[in-house]
Amino acid sequence: MCGIIGYCGQKPAVPIVLDALKRLEYRGYDSAGIASLSDGELLIRKDAGKVDDVIRKLNLASLPGNVAIGHTRWATHGAVTQSNAHPHTDCGGRVAVVHNGIVENNRQLRQGLIAGGHKFTSETDTEVIPHLVEDELRNGCSLEQAVLNIAPKLEGSYAFLVISLGDPGKIAGTRRNNPLIVGINGPDYYVSSDALAFSQYTNQVMSLEDNEVVVLTREGVEFFDARGCKLVKQARKLDHSWAESSKDSYQHFMLKEIMDQTQVLDQIVRQDEKTFTETALDILRARQVIITACGSSRYAALVGRYLFSKVGKKFCDVVMASEFGYFADSVDKNTVVIAVSQSGETADIIDGVKAAKDAGAQVISIINRPNSILADLSHQVIYLNCGAEIAVAATKTFLSQLALFYLLSFSMINDFNEASAKLISLNSEISKVLDCNKSELITLSQKLKDKNDFYYIARGINFAIASEGALKLKEVSYVHAEGMPAGELKHGTLALIEPGTPVVVICPADYTFNETLSNAMEAKSRGAYIIGVSDKEGDLYDSWVRLPQVDELLYPMVAVVPLQLLAYYVAINRGCDPDKPRNLAKSVTVK
Ligand code: G6P
Repeated sequence: MCGIIGYCGQKPAVPIVLDALKRLEYRGYDSAGIASLSDGELLIRKDAGKVDDVIRKLNLASLPGNVAIGHTRWATHGAVTQSNAHPHTDCGGRVAVVHNGIVENNRQLRQGLIAGGHKFTSETDTEVIPHLVEDELRNGCSLEQAVLNIAPKLEGSYAFLVISLGDPGKIAGTRRNNPLIVGINGPDYYVSSDALAFSQYTNQVMSLEDNEVVVLTREGVEFFDARGCKLVKQARKLDHSWAESSKDSYQHFMLKEIMDQTQVLDQIVRQDEKTFTETALDILRARQVIITACGSSRYAALVGRYLFSKVGKKFCDVVMASEFGYFADSVDKNTVVIAVSQSGETADIIDGVKAAKDAGAQVISIINRPNSILADLSHQVIYLNCGAEIAVAATKTFLSQLALFYLLSFSMINDFNEASAKLISLNSEISKVLDCNKSELITLSQKLKDKNDFYYIARGINFAIASEGALKLKEVSYVHAEGMPAGELKHGTLALIEPGTPVVVICPADYTFNETLSNAMEAKSRGAYIIGVSDKEGDLYDSWVRLPQVDELLYPMVAVVPLQLLAYYVAINRGCDPDKPRNLAKSVTVK
């Protein structure tokens, strides 16, 4: 949620910050703004709207300055308005702040500041920060000292950057439970929520731990611990796959990322076999195994649960991260918690993992984004290595999570290499699925674009794929969609089936085929429009999305791909922007 960026160096700052805002837009895109220091002036421009629109409308590219900060917003406190957009300022317009996260005690702080004579102009929690900084600067503090002094007063999670006319030529920032990463390239310094914002300029990065403070000037970058003692940090090299964020010739990132899935498995299998074998042993030895995740990652975890049980004969449970805290009583040192998160930033997961660690559990994480908070908290991290995913709706990271669970489950029976080979051979099957269904899916999306309700059904390992297919459609097309085990349809949902209601039936030719088809028949008898997703033709399909024949446990990986493409084309036909669905964000750093 929300992306922040700061630049300080030899170059004009504003073009760099604007470019970074476009790359950070996946984190929130309801408002954008920048603040720049130039010739004794603090210039602030901001508005509601997508980054490109705000840049154009306010002619942001013309702003001067060598020190600037910027923000893309996903609203939490306060409506989507110009006054609630960041940066926020103090009373005199001499301090500017951009913030990601939530200051939970903002009401108390605001009351105290108002009692002290401060004037507020927005409804945001963030605005307390510049006013607190204002008081510190008035007392003669440097900008970094001001940040060190006010940070302990803020409750909640945050990463923020501040610039000021009172101490010009520098950017100070800090973080707690939200990401902040510094990039260095000779005399140019960058700081952002995500290295992707500046990865086209440098691959040398330095991370901040919770409560540390960073200050960037044209002379260099300095780090302090929470007591103000200087820290010495070494720069690390950013993984090159994280630098890439171009759409190539595709119209949308979502489409590009769907297409990337024809190659992604080659990267996924580049894992250390020993790590997998050891991790698999830890899972097998644990008294209980709990997988925690949200959204698409949770559906991947449900497939993982099935694979662990089927292949490794190890039962585990999947608990929605936002509900994990309510199940935490049974967590102890004999528990393995597997946290699955593309971003490694999801607040609900971070909270649950902290509680599980406190209770003595071993934490294994499956993450895509490098340098994440979740990675720092985990005893063991397995990376997806599938490169940055920009579209809000997960596609290639979902497939990669499925592949990692497949590798982990076969590592439980010492078959890592065979599983890797099978995954590599699946690349060509994924290409086939895309090629042979593209035109059918385009036609189908045109035909169904005005339908208000979709149902997705499947059994066994594919049930989670039904749920993921429905989630994709909801996210990008704003159409109501539900995924459920096919056998559950008659326990309520069947009442909603009307003539023409689309029912997507995932029924590969495996042991679930006949039973799933019976359930599809029940829907068809009530007039449903049946979309069969299968390698076997069925009389009752009104449309047929063809799957290749693969091993039973690999069907989820080929079945999900056309469902992603269907959601994409429905979104396009309904005039929605699939990369930036309304109200959603890719990294959900608030609870
Ligand atoms: C958000 C995103 C989803 C994602 C979910 C979990 O809701 O829009 O695409 O599946 O968060 O994110 P994570 O980074 O933890 O996998």
